[in-house]
Amino acid sequence: MGNEVLRIEHLHKEFEGNVILEDISLTVRKGEVIVVIGPSGCGKSTLLRCVNALEDIQGGKILLDDEPVDPSSKAISRMRQKIGMVFQSYDLFPHKTILQNVTLAPEKVQKRKKAEAEREALELLERVNLADRGNDYPRQLSGGQKQRVAIVRALCMHPDILLLDEITAALDPEMVHEVLEVVVSLARSGSTMLIVTHEMGFAKAVADRVIFLDEGRIVEESSAPRDFFAMPGTERARAFLKTFDYE
Ligand SMILES: Nc1ncnc2c1ncn2[C@@H]1O[C@H](COP(=O)(O)OP(=O)(O)O)[C@@H](O)[C@H]1O
Ligand SMILES: [Mg+2]
Repeated sequence: MGNEVLRIEHLHKEFEGNVILEDISLTVRKGEVIVVIGPSGCGKSTLLRCVNALEDIQGGKILLDDEPVDPSSKAISRMRQKIGMVFQSYDLFPHKTILQNVTLAPEKVQKRKKAEAEREALELLERVNLADRGNDYPRQLSGGQKQRVAIVRALCMHPDILLLDEITAALDPEMVHEVLEVVVSLARSGSTMLIVTHEMGFAKAVADRVIFLDEGRIVEESSAPRDFFAMPGTERARAFLKTFDYE
């Protein structure tokens, strides 16, 4: 299909002979939000890292805009620019201002004009309610604010897809909401995203499709997230979701 952004076919990933991901097939179309859930250690981060060519793979294919993602290919730095990734730790440069952190890659990697990159950075910072913090340094911001900057930094590169790996996992509870709200607003405005999260309420609200991963395999997949969370189809998904019941 023409509007496919990401296509993963029969992905197989091993670490030192241990199978970590097995027969993963998954398509993400433009504007879709896919949420991957599953127990710790089931391979969620590895899956995102494979998509971003941070890991080599032992079988299958990953295509981004119909082009193979291959860590050893010459095209890989150009391919990576199509992917925005945000992790649990925001990794902002401490000695650079917020504005400098956001405009660094657009200027250095994409060779965009400073004034133009700054204009866009300020617009994006405004979108996450941080318009007045451009000249501050990361240490002056809270964890939630820094994570919103990390999202802006990724967006400023105009990625075709955003990969979010448990971006609220290290935040104090009161800051989780302000970050997830930004992601919900991105979803509503049509951003294409592949999201790993343990925030089930958020997953239910934001997902077009939910994928339940367990022991490196897709155990269940649903295009009706509300139904999935109300009544998962597999015993393993039921058992996993039960662990969130106290929330
Ligand atoms: N660099 C690595 N070398 C060896 N094993 C790894 C490496 N990274 C992850 N793993 C293993 O791969 C499995 C999946 O890890 P990960 O993708 O981080 O899971 P999740 O994000 O779902 O918690 C785990 O068993 C983990 O120990
Ligand atoms: Mg992980």
